[in-house]
Amino acid sequence: KTAATSPSSWSSGTAGDRRSKIGIVGAGAVGSSLAYFCQIRGIAREIAIYDVASEKVHAEAADLSHGAMFSPSTVVSGSDDVSVLAGADIVVITAGAKQKPGQPRLELAEANVNILRAMTPKLLEVAPDAVYVLVTNPCDVLTSVFRELSGLPKERVMSSGTVLDTSRLRLRLSEEAGVSPTSVHAMIVGEHGDTEFPLWSIANIGSVPLLEWRNGTGELAFPEDVRDTIADEVMHAAYSVIAGKGATNYAIGMAGGSICQAILSDQHAVMPVSTILEDYQGVSGVALSVPSVVGRAGVLHQLPVPMSDGEVQQLHKSADALRSSLSTLGF
Ligand code: 2OP
Repeated sequence: KTAATSPSSWSSGTAGDRRSKIGIVGAGAVGSSLAYFCQIRGIAREIAIYDVASEKVHAEAADLSHGAMFSPSTVVSGSDDVSVLAGADIVVITAGAKQKPGQPRLELAEANVNILRAMTPKLLEVAPDAVYVLVTNPCDVLTSVFRELSGLPKERVMSSGTVLDTSRLRLRLSEEAGVSPTSVHAMIVGEHGDTEFPLWSIANIGSVPLLEWRNGTGELAFPEDVRDTIADEVMHAAYSVIAGKGATNYAIGMAGGSICQAILSDQHAVMPVSTILEDYQGVSGVALSVPSVVGRAGVLHQLPVPMSDGEVQQLHKSADALRSSLSTLGF
């Protein structure tokens, strides 16, 4: 039933743990891009994709498998039987309704909560020990819901949150400053959606505080109006991609795959993934992205980073938006 290739030998020197398995729910554009990123990076020994659309999931797995000669040895399988995910170390959930052009993520909540509700018991049966990463939108809402439906420890339930938005922010800042995005240390936190915001007060570029970064003529490069414009562009970035091609998939695939790598390699990487907060800057009981340390056990802890009063207020605004969405859904 599965379309798999068995590599004749395991090549050493790949990035992943030899025994590791990533399960992906959803063979759509996001699930397939995530699988592709994990495969070409050699993040896991095995990638299994589950989707109810039988032909589609077999075809995606076969297509990925056919790249065996050009990628680190990874077994890719796909099935419409959830047992393909058996024993996965990580289950990434990408299945669900997607945004129409101009539609906010929170509007997808009801449809995607229903899909999640139907799937949860089966997932827990086949992959009871996995770390669960929710990518389907609205990802923060679904993280809170999945945590409640599954009863799993909160550190094993996270979403990609604002990891992608953070990459978008670093790209924009790096373009302005003329340095690599990897030398920009700045984060978007809060809801992955319309109330997200950058933590400007602790952002820096190559160790220079962002608020003190000067352009070639010696002027401050990031005064408030420039910061506001960049924050707005980042928040609207997904809307413009969706308007142009109907969905976003590559960058979210890379963001999700990087989270899988941080988990399987026990990287202790600091990432703005979303998990249920407990008295974080006064926010409790709702899943939101804040700087978090990600390793083999999931979210190891959240970093108590300094925030300005305005940033704390924005975090509470994000929490309120998510609470109101959750209560509409009966959670
Ligand atoms: C994104 O930000 C739509 O949430 C998706 O690309």
